[in-house]
Amino acid sequence: MSKNLNNGRMPVKPIAFARAVSAPYARWAFGAMTAAFVATAVSRISTYVLGRLTDNAIAFGQGKADVSDIWRWVLIFPAIYMINEFIWRTSGFCGMRWITGAVAEGSRRLFGYLSEHSATYFSDRHAGALVNKISNAASGIERLVGQWLWQFFPLIVGLAADLFLTYNAHPYFALTLLVWMAVYVPLNVFFVSRLHKLSFAYAESSSSLKGKMVDSTSNVDTVQYTGSIDYEKLHIGGHIGHQRTAHLREWWWSEWVLVTNGVLLALFMLSMFAFGMLLIERGEISVGSLVMIITIVIGLEQRMFFLGQNMTQAVSYYGQVSEGLKELLEPHEIVNSADAKPLTVSQAAIEFKGLDFSYRGKRVFHGDFDLCIAGGEKVGLVGHSGAGKSTLVALLLRRFELGGGSIAIDRQSINSVTLDSLRKAVAFVPQGTSLFHRSIIENIRYGRLDASDAEVVNAANLAQADEFINELPSGYQTKVGERGVMLSGGQRQRVSVARAVLRDAPILLLDEATSALDSISEAAIQKALVELMKDKTVIAIAHRLSTLRAMDRLVVIENGRIVENGKHDELLALGGVYAELWNSQVSGFIPD
Ligand SMILES: Nc1ncnc2c1ncn2[C@@H]1O[C@H](COP(=O)(O)OP(=O)(O)O)[C@@H](O)[C@H]1O
Ligand SMILES: [Mg+2]
Repeated sequence: MSKNLNNGRMPVKPIAFARAVSAPYARWAFGAMTAAFVATAVSRISTYVLGRLTDNAIAFGQGKADVSDIWRWVLIFPAIYMINEFIWRTSGFCGMRWITGAVAEGSRRLFGYLSEHSATYFSDRHAGALVNKISNAASGIERLVGQWLWQFFPLIVGLAADLFLTYNAHPYFALTLLVWMAVYVPLNVFFVSRLHKLSFAYAESSSSLKGKMVDSTSNVDTVQYTGSIDYEKLHIGGHIGHQRTAHLREWWWSEWVLVTNGVLLALFMLSMFAFGMLLIERGEISVGSLVMIITIVIGLEQRMFFLGQNMTQAVSYYGQVSEGLKELLEPHEIVNSADAKPLTVSQAAIEFKGLDFSYRGKRVFHGDFDLCIAGGEKVGLVGHSGAGKSTLVALLLRRFELGGGSIAIDRQSINSVTLDSLRKAVAFVPQGTSLFHRSIIENIRYGRLDASDAEVVNAANLAQADEFINELPSGYQTKVGERGVMLSGGQRQRVSVARAVLRDAPILLLDEATSALDSISEAAIQKALVELMKDKTVIAIAHRLSTLRAMDRLVVIENGRIVENGKHDELLALGGVYAELWNSQVSGFIPD
């Protein structure tokens, strides 16, 4: 496997990536490039025609040619121009299909790839900045492909044609052009490699700035109610300053590249014109050939000047794309194993064995966590906050990779089954539910995407959500704001419970599913939960211990270890951690 490929799937280098996403549009790419090739060749014919037109005009002045000879060339010139324009447009019509297609394909693949990263990947990064990288990469690819198709490729073809034409006029010209290219090209390759580093650094600082801005904007509530707007302005202002410095460095180098190229071009013009005059003096070339050479040199000067500009721009896009791809296309941490099979659930028995797990640097389980849950058993997890309860549930869903030990469902290791089948077997009500900025009905339907409207309403009813939903301005069609900000914590929890009802999976995980509800709402929803738990294997975590009394068994966790295990009454009689927690609960809350 090449080191440029992550999980053997997508190239990380911009050009290889552009080629991969262009593959479905290969026919349009071929058409566009062929047209660009032909159009460039045709444009060189017009340079040749200009030379012949001049010679005929001179011959006519000397009475050696007929007026019709001149007119023939005069008509050919605009005709070639028109044909040429037509071919360029053909290239445009093909190119637009190629480029829009490649951009769409790139965005689709990057978005798909991004969604398969692990929870660790996302906990380190800002969602807004990641999305920004996708759009940067896509627009960068669009510009790079466009530049290749309409600037660099025609330039290479044109240079080959220019070499041929100059050689025909006199070998000296071709030789001068060759020598000049031998200096110009390597020097620019050096410039570009240096410039690339600076462009990459600039892209990095821009993307980091965007991340900081997203972070600040998404916490605008805190910024405002703590009166910290000035502090944030200063903080973000510092990052804006870094970005400007990086931009300036890149630009500074680009300007010097342009200066050097300008000097080289002047030297080139000088030698070509000097040769031209010398050869005219000696009578070795015609005036027409000299005109042709001058046209070529002026054309080259313009194209080379723009090449300098385009190149610095292309390097900048390249830096932007490679920065984005490097981060987005990091290898996936959690993947289906090569021989992964779908999970087949019969009893829905769960076994945790010798769990070892650390978040980056923070050890939560120590290699000695064992817990067997029989099919259909209902287990309550209890422990101080930070004990590792939510982590245990996340590990069962394989949102993080285990450091050691194993988790199995019905004797199938979760690492040996497909991720999709594992997660489809579980209904999960997480500790804090954030909702999509979509309608409530869509949010609940997320529990089971093919559920009918009636099923959704029924689930909402069971989860005691129906009442508040009907009071919203557009009922079930109400959009809930970013992450669900228009709903209260308790309302979001009920939406989340409704999802679990709809899902109806053999394993049910409840992580503080009712923590944001008052006692009365909780008692009401408790009935729905008891109904929901029927015939399912359940792991329920609750702050309020009274809500766990209906469980078959309670497991008390401290610092990633099971310290007590048994029924409510047994644990109470034990007089240990559970008894302490229970007794210290004022109206059923564990003090943190
Ligand atoms: N994404 C994370 N990255 C790093 N550390 C984490 C992360 N999530 C939780 N932790 C840490 O792991 C420990 C266990 O957390 P958690 O399982 O959420 O506890 P509980 O649910 O029992 O309150 C805590 O010390 C917490 O700070
Ligand atoms: Mg928790």
